[in-house]
Amino acid sequence: MGKEQHTFDVYAPPPIEFARAEGCRLFDTDGNEYLDCTSGIAVNSLGHGHPHLVETLKNQAEKIWHLSNLFEIPGQKQLATRLCDNSFADRVFFTNSGVEAMEMAIKTARRYHYAQGNPDRVNIITFEGAFHGRSTTTIAAGGQAKYLEGFGPIAPGFINLPFGDHDALKAAIDDKTAAILVEPIQGEGGIREVPAQCLRGLRELCDEHGILLMFDEVQTGIGRCGKLFAHQIHNVEPDIMAIAKGIGGGFPLGACMATEEVALAMVLGTHGSTFGGNPLAMAIGNAVLDVVLEDNFMDEVNDKSILFRQHLAELVDTYPDLLEGVRGAGLLVGLKAKALNLDLIAAMRDQGLLTVGAGDNVIRILPPLIISEDDIRAVRDKMIAAFDAYKAAQKA
Ligand SMILES: Cc1ncc(COP(=O)(O)O)c(C=O)c1O
Repeated sequence: MGKEQHTFDVYAPPPIEFARAEGCRLFDTDGNEYLDCTSGIAVNSLGHGHPHLVETLKNQAEKIWHLSNLFEIPGQKQLATRLCDNSFADRVFFTNSGVEAMEMAIKTARRYHYAQGNPDRVNIITFEGAFHGRSTTTIAAGGQAKYLEGFGPIAPGFINLPFGDHDALKAAIDDKTAAILVEPIQGEGGIREVPAQCLRGLRELCDEHGILLMFDEVQTGIGRCGKLFAHQIHNVEPDIMAIAKGIGGGFPLGACMATEEVALAMVLGTHGSTFGGNPLAMAIGNAVLDVVLEDNFMDEVNDKSILFRQHLAELVDTYPDLLEGVRGAGLLVGLKAKALNLDLIAAMRDQGLLTVGAGDNVIRILPPLIISEDDIRAVRDKMIAAFDAYKAAQKA
C-alpha cells in the first residue's frame, strides 16, 4: 500500500475543496459559495477570473511562455518603466515571489555599501513582529523564534529591535549598519501600522547616517492600502523596496525596486533568476497595472475602505466581548479579536466567509480590491451570523 499523502505536512487546510472562482466568490465541489476575503493572502487584487487578466494570459500563452533572461523578455521594460514612473524607483529586478524580492533587496543593500568602499556595512535592522519570507536569510530578518526553530545557524547580519522603540533604534546604529528594513504596515504581524512620524523619522535617521531605507511592500503594495504603494500615503520614500503578491493578481510575480544610485551596485553577474520576469508574468503584471492605474481605481478602494471600516467599527461595538478594534489602511484591514482569532475565522468560514489569521490575535480581511459595496454589506451580514453562532455555541 502506498502512502496516502505525498505533500509535505507544512499546511493545514480546512476540509473544503474549491472547484471554481469568480470575482469575489469561491465555489466548492458541493456547490457551496464563499465570499473571499483572503484574496489568496493579498494576491488576487482584481478578484478571480478578471476578464482582462484571463484574456491577457491566453494571448500571451499563444505567443511565448518562457525564454529565461538569456534573452530580452517582452514586457519587462514596459512593466519596469510603469513601476518606476509611479514610484521613487529607477530600476526593477523581477522575481517569482515575495521572498525572492526580499533576498534581492538584502543583497542590493549590502552590495551598495560594498561598492561604496564600505564592505563592513552589512547589518540590517528589522523590527519585532516583521515577516519577510521563509528563506533561511529572511527568517533571520524577521527574527521570529517560531520560524527559526530547528533550521540551524541563524543567518548573521540582522538586528531585530522592539517595534516602536526609538531609543533602541538609535542605540543599534553603528558603522556596520547597512539598512533599516520595515513593512510600512506589518501584515503577518497583525496589521500593525508604522505611524507617519516614525516612517519620517526612519528616513531622517537613514539620511543622517548614510543608511539605506528598505520597505517590504510585498503585502501592502499595488493598491492594497489605497495608494499604489503604502508608503505613498505618508510621502516617505525608501531606497529599496520589495513587492510581490498583488502585482501578479494570482500569477507568481515579485520585484525588487531601487533608486539608480543603489541599483547600479548590482553589476553584471551579481544576481539572476531562471524564471524571474518571464513573459507570462510580465504580461499579467502589465495587465494588473492597466486596471489599478486607471483613473478613480484608488479613489474607489478608499471609498470602499471607509464603508468597510464603518461596518467593522459597528461590529466591534456590538460584540465587545469578541472584538477589540479595527486596524489597517485601504483594504488591508485587521480586526483585533478578544476571542481566539482562529475560532472566529472558523465560525465565519461556516457562514461562507473566508478571512486570514495574523499575529497579535488579529483577523485579516483582505478582499479583492474590486469588491462591490453590496458584497461589503454581505461580508458584514456573514460576520454577524458567525459571531452570533459563535456566542450561541459558547453558551450551549
Ligand atoms: C511582508 C511580506 N514579505 C514577504 C513575504 C514573502 O512572500 P512570499 O510568500 O511570496 O515568498 C510575505 C508573504 O506573506 C509578506 O507578507
